[in-house]
Amino acid sequence: MRVDILTIFPSMFIGVLGESILKIAQEKNKLRVVVTDMRDFATDRHKKVDDRPYGGGPGMVMMAGPVVQAVRAVRAAEPADPGRLLLLCPRGRVFDQPFARELAQASRLVMVAAHYEGYDERIVECLQPELVSIGDYVLTGGELPAMVVLDAVARLLPGVLGDEQSTVSESFSPGNEGLLEYPQYTRPAVFEGRAVPEVLSSGDHAKVAAWRREQARLLSARQRPDLLSAGC
Ligand code: ADE
Repeated sequence: MRVDILTIFPSMFIGVLGESILKIAQEKNKLRVVVTDMRDFATDRHKKVDDRPYGGGPGMVMMAGPVVQAVRAVRAAEPADPGRLLLLCPRGRVFDQPFARELAQASRLVMVAAHYEGYDERIVECLQPELVSIGDYVLTGGELPAMVVLDAVARLLPGVLGDEQSTVSESFSPGNEGLLEYPQYTRPAVFEGRAVPEVLSSGDHAKVAAWRREQARLLSARQRPDLLSAGC
């Protein structure tokens, strides 16, 4: 998968792309991430990408010109595959695991991280992006949301995690009936007087699976009753 990220703070991505699974995914050539600075598409000598809102009000608004030109240039770099265009903003479709799985099917994603108080509405009119939110709260920009989406999608790409099974039975996944994942334990067998549940050392796979199903239901009922009533 190729992922283009358009931002005015490209250095925010250095750490996240250079560590852990995202780093490995790139090294394995399963993922190619290209970060583009939208400031390079500003037309004045101050490289201005924001301005005051028409009608007044607080904050600054991202200008349409640099964003629209940047998206067009990035897409033109590989015209055969313009990719799914995502604009990160609080008013978008709320990102969740089924959405991550859907995006992981794409060969290319182009993510625009807006900043400031908001963005000129004509960006949406001209580019018709999919609007994506990572939750009902407001961040200072779309960079962290773009990282969240990238991380959640990249780990689902075939060959990125060593063991594909791990994404089948995890929280919110069909193999786990859409519920929270069951509790996990590792060595030591006893920690501060608390023993690992006996069934997990029984070697009886059917019993272990039944215990995990039951625990997933109990955990979900306690923490996220909405997941049970969703009928997964
Ligand atoms: N930009 C600011 N807040 C956001 C959110 N919750 N999701 C996506 N983009 C955002």
